[in-house]
Amino acid sequence: MNYFNSEYFTYNNNELFCENISLKDILKDSGTPVYIYSKKYFIDRFNELDSAFKEIDHTIFYAVKSNFNLSVIKIFADMGSGLDVNSEGELLRALKVGVSTDKIIFSGVGKTSSEIKLAVENDLLMIKAESEEELILINEIAFSLNMTARVGIRVNPDVDPKTHPYISTGLAENKFGIDVASAIKLYSQKDRFKNIEYTGIDMHIGSQITTVEPFVSAVEKLSKVFFMLKSEGINLKHFDLGGGIGVEYHNEKTFSAHEFAEALIPVLKKLDCKVFFEPGRYLSANAGILVAQVLYTKLNNKKNFIIVDAAMNDLIRPSIYGAYHHIQPVQINYNSKDITADVVGPVCESGDFLAKNRNIQESKRGDYLAVMSAGAYGMVMASNYNTRRRPPEILVEGFN
Ligand code: LLP
Repeated sequence: MNYFNSEYFTYNNNELFCENISLKDILKDSGTPVYIYSKKYFIDRFNELDSAFKEIDHTIFYAVKSNFNLSVIKIFADMGSGLDVNSEGELLRALKVGVSTDKIIFSGVGKTSSEIKLAVENDLLMIKAESEEELILINEIAFSLNMTARVGIRVNPDVDPKTHPYISTGLAENKFGIDVASAIKLYSQKDRFKNIEYTGIDMHIGSQITTVEPFVSAVEKLSKVFFMLKSEGINLKHFDLGGGIGVEYHNEKTFSAHEFAEALIPVLKKLDCKVFFEPGRYLSANAGILVAQVLYTKLNNKKNFIIVDAAMNDLIRPSIYGAYHHIQPVQINYNSKDITADVVGPVCESGDFLAKNRNIQESKRGDYLAVMSAGAYGMVMASNYNTRRRPPEILVEGFN
């Protein structure tokens, strides 16, 4: 089998470490299942993306939804990142961490009145509107508070991001955003929305996008809208190109921050305005792993099963997207043979699996397995299904 080895999760004498801390030492206290994150990973990825775009005026807004642990949010806040939130709960987390409200943007296709009120009261940097009805409501709420809401319209550019259909958001058939023609009309109806200041234009075409082309073509489409509005005297300050940068889970060929910048800077430079990014997964996926312990192994009808103590309620990505997460032993034993097995959890559903037909070191009860690339959309999508406890999270700061 292959072993995923990085600067952040490394084998040392065949034993997996996070930074320079032995996982086995952590597991003695935490038990399993447990999420373990490398602090340095978050910091390095943020700096990498930030410096790739240093040529243009930009702000990174960490997409809190990918990993909303308060300590993780704080790492980004401390580095000067803005935050992209998608609900009242995420906004409250952002405020709790102490991020100033002019560094928070609020996304979401279905914000409630109370969420909009909270966003307007806090005078967030930008509230994104995804429908005409939402604009009307934002305007009414801002009027009742005697305030002006700073708003950007999320435009649906109708571009295929070539990703899993569940996480594709920029096609005309998706529920997100407002089509180009309607958006232009709404931007120009300033008199209808007296308590709204249009500050930006926004897009988010999908997640786990592994090539730069969909970004480039969506940005080109939205640039046309941006300039058309400018010619009508509507000068927007911000161009928000959303999140979606893909990462390596298996053997995907993805693009680097440098390649991303190289492809986009020429288009973005022409806008001559501040550019926003909302990455989640890129900053958090490979910062984290989920560690499980083997409960039982069995051979049923010639099929091997490794039954572990982590389940679909802890990490649901394999069950709902058929997502691949590499699984490797915390302790490599070169005397063990490799087998093909399903790695499954204790939940009472056949959809409860972490891997299917996986080539993996033969395991026995008590062994620890690390489910890799679990820092994004892992813990945040965990549930108490089957009245199981949700796993603890450990943040490792192991490099001095
Ligand atoms: N901005 C907006 C408006 C979004 O909806 C999202 C993600 C992001 C930014 C961050 O996207 P990222 O950079 O992480 O791709 N649960 C799925 C992913 C859903 C993504 C939802 N929106 C998964 O596990 O793959």
